[in-house]
Amino acid sequence: VQRLIVFGASGYTGLELLRWLSLHPQARVVAASSDRWAGDPAFAHSATAPRGLIFVGHKEALARVEEGDIVLLATSAEVSLDLVPELLQKRSRVIDLSGAFRLASAEDFARWYGFAHKAPELLTEAAYGLPEISPPPPNARLVANPGCYATAAAIAVTPLVRRGLVEDGAPIVIDGKSGTTGAGRKSDEALSYSEVADTVRPYRLLSHQHTPEIERTVASAANKAVCVLFTPQLVPMRRGLLVTAYAPARQEVDAEAVARAFAEEYADARFVVIPKDRAPETGTVIHTNFCEVAARFDPRTRVITAIAALDNLVKGAAGQAIQNMNRMMGIDEATGLLAGGGGA
Ligand SMILES: NC(=O)c1ccc[n+]([C@@H]2O[C@H](COP(=O)([O-])OP(=O)(O)OC[C@H]3O[C@@H](n4cnc5c(N)ncnc54)[C@H](OP(=O)(O)O)[C@@H]3O)[C@@H](O)[C@H]2O)c1
Repeated sequence: VQRLIVFGASGYTGLELLRWLSLHPQARVVAASSDRWAGDPAFAHSATAPRGLIFVGHKEALARVEEGDIVLLATSAEVSLDLVPELLQKRSRVIDLSGAFRLASAEDFARWYGFAHKAPELLTEAAYGLPEISPPPPNARLVANPGCYATAAAIAVTPLVRRGLVEDGAPIVIDGKSGTTGAGRKSDEALSYSEVADTVRPYRLLSHQHTPEIERTVASAANKAVCVLFTPQLVPMRRGLLVTAYAPARQEVDAEAVARAFAEEYADARFVVIPKDRAPETGTVIHTNFCEVAARFDPRTRVITAIAALDNLVKGAAGQAIQNMNRMMGIDEATGLLAGGGGA
């Protein structure tokens, strides 16, 4: 049994980690950090958290990291950036759910995240852990867990680029829609009920930080440059995320080549599902670690439409982190992740 320390356990992704880890047969949470709930039983705040677990403050969790085998960070990029060098110095193995180690260079962070990266020397070591596309090595010390939009977008677009179905140099246009838990639990007027109900709100036009993450992931999987234009939108639901990608097809592409690319690329992927006779949607995947994906080739416009849907808190965050953790533990990647269910 692996002993786990969870930082940021009171947030949306942190609580989701506690929920899944309470069902995991080979993992036990030995410390879960929250300043606001320090001293409280986790169970008192969330009925799906492990019984007997008491939240500790962030400082106390840091003092106790040697009790854990793996540390999971469900914290903001800024907090992760502060914690990771210290944790590695203390010989912890770390899975970071934030964006702090997902990009290639300090310049990328300055441009897309707006901060000066304090540990650029760790960027080459960090393993970007998207199991279906770039599985982290089992001995990884630091795993950068992918972003929610980036996971769905990479799963939708990688087969097309890897198989040379997209016109070289053409930008891939990606439209994303996410529920409000994607923004975290912080209070913010713009995220209050009256502001988000009954409206669809595009945000961070041309500047969302998952843009370079998607480009980097797909480019390294396909071994060719990729150019993405990404527009995220907030929709009035709590969970779930859907991306639609539009890619101009190369001359010789047809519907069969597109269907075959997805069927073959994901034949062995435990958590990627290609729905039959319908498009992916959020309702069937929420509360699960599954990502639905499907693509169609339109002979009239010669554009490929690829759609992926997942739960931003599960396959887009906590579930994927546990999939990576299972790989780091050398056990079946689906361990503890097959419970839960979507649908009506
Ligand atoms: N939400 C999503 O759909 C999603 C998906 C993928 C990735 N992520 C990433 O996951 C991370 C967490 O997101 P979230 O949505 O769960 O955020 P959140 O709901 O706002 O929770 C943030 C957590 O960070 C803790 N925290 C605050 N200051 C801290 C400090 N100095 N040291 C340690 N912990 C501290 C908070 O604990 P207290 O306030 O109790 O002290 C809280 O538990 C972010 O980097 C986010 O980008 C989120």
